[in-house]
Amino acid sequence: MKIAVLYGGTSGEREVSLSTGKGIINALKKNGHEVVDIDFHPDRLNEILELDVDLVFIGLHGRFGEDGKIQGLLDMLGIPYVGSGVLASALAMDKAKSKQIFSQYGIATARSKTYRVENDNLRAIEEAIKQDFKPPFVIKPNQEGSTLGLTIVKDITEIEEGVKKAGESDDTILVEDYIAGREVTVPVVGKQGEEKALPVIEIIPKSDYYDFDSKYKPGGSEHIVPAQLPEEMTEKLQKHSVLAHQLLGCDVYSRVDFIVTNEHEAIILEVNTLPGMTPTSLFPDSANKIGWSYEEMVERFVELSTSK
Ligand SMILES: Nc1ncnc2c1ncn2[C@@H]1O[C@H](COP(=O)(O)OP(=O)(O)O)[C@@H](O)[C@H]1O
Ligand SMILES: [Mg+2]
Repeated sequence: MKIAVLYGGTSGEREVSLSTGKGIINALKKNGHEVVDIDFHPDRLNEILELDVDLVFIGLHGRFGEDGKIQGLLDMLGIPYVGSGVLASALAMDKAKSKQIFSQYGIATARSKTYRVENDNLRAIEEAIKQDFKPPFVIKPNQEGSTLGLTIVKDITEIEEGVKKAGESDDTILVEDYIAGREVTVPVVGKQGEEKALPVIEIIPKSDYYDFDSKYKPGGSEHIVPAQLPEEMTEKLQKHSVLAHQLLGCDVYSRVDFIVTNEHEAIILEVNTLPGMTPTSLFPDSANKIGWSYEEMVERFVELSTSK
């Protein structure tokens, strides 16, 4: 097949996407496909408009890639692509909206509130947060990824900086109770209605939470696949990850992040519709455990996307 790979892009996660893109391009070539690679930039939309391919593999992360916008453009052009459509992508990218849906269906979420950052209301937001939350809590941009713009507030003096930082990425910020526990993530893959969860991965970051460097620096974190958890917890995580994927209307694949507390609760953090696909990323690591090489995993995504 002739497949275009979109990667790079302009979001805060560009560097990650360059690596994801390289992995996907190499795999598709090894699998015998003809590859057109495009370092996506919204100033060069003509490169997308002129595409003459059988399929687009989206290797972007974050804004303009993971949020449904590029999916909308490809829908209008009538070009099939790998992964979730416009609505699911946009919903998953909006942490507050997706959390409303999860909690409605019995998937536990951290208590949270959103605040809208405008030019001159930083003081008012700080005051409101002080009223609504007691440390430790987390301030993050509502729509972002790779832990960019996220602050774990341990003391109220850190609120000001945290609000500013999150506000740089998004004008809606999300504040959540801090959930102490073990961090896990679950890949989901399959045709709509027949999705399966892959083995649960436990992430042990070298820093005190899963920040950008732990995510992407070599040796920044350790992955344990399958996570050493009680059988019932593994089943619950797998069931909830498939449910979360389906509730948002995701397609082909996603990866669902949770924190497992000492009280044996599984708190969902988010669904990633375009999770990292660098050869050392979490998703391929888990797929590997059930015997899929990186190339086989990529080929399955292609098959699932073209057999609709
Ligand atoms: N409510 C929370 N309690 C504890 N840790 C959190 C919380 N929210 C986020 N984190 C930490 O920050 C990381 C990134 O948060 P996440 O909500 O998944 O956003 P991103 O889209 O940036 O990955 C998580 O993997 C976790 O380590
Ligand atoms: Mg995450």
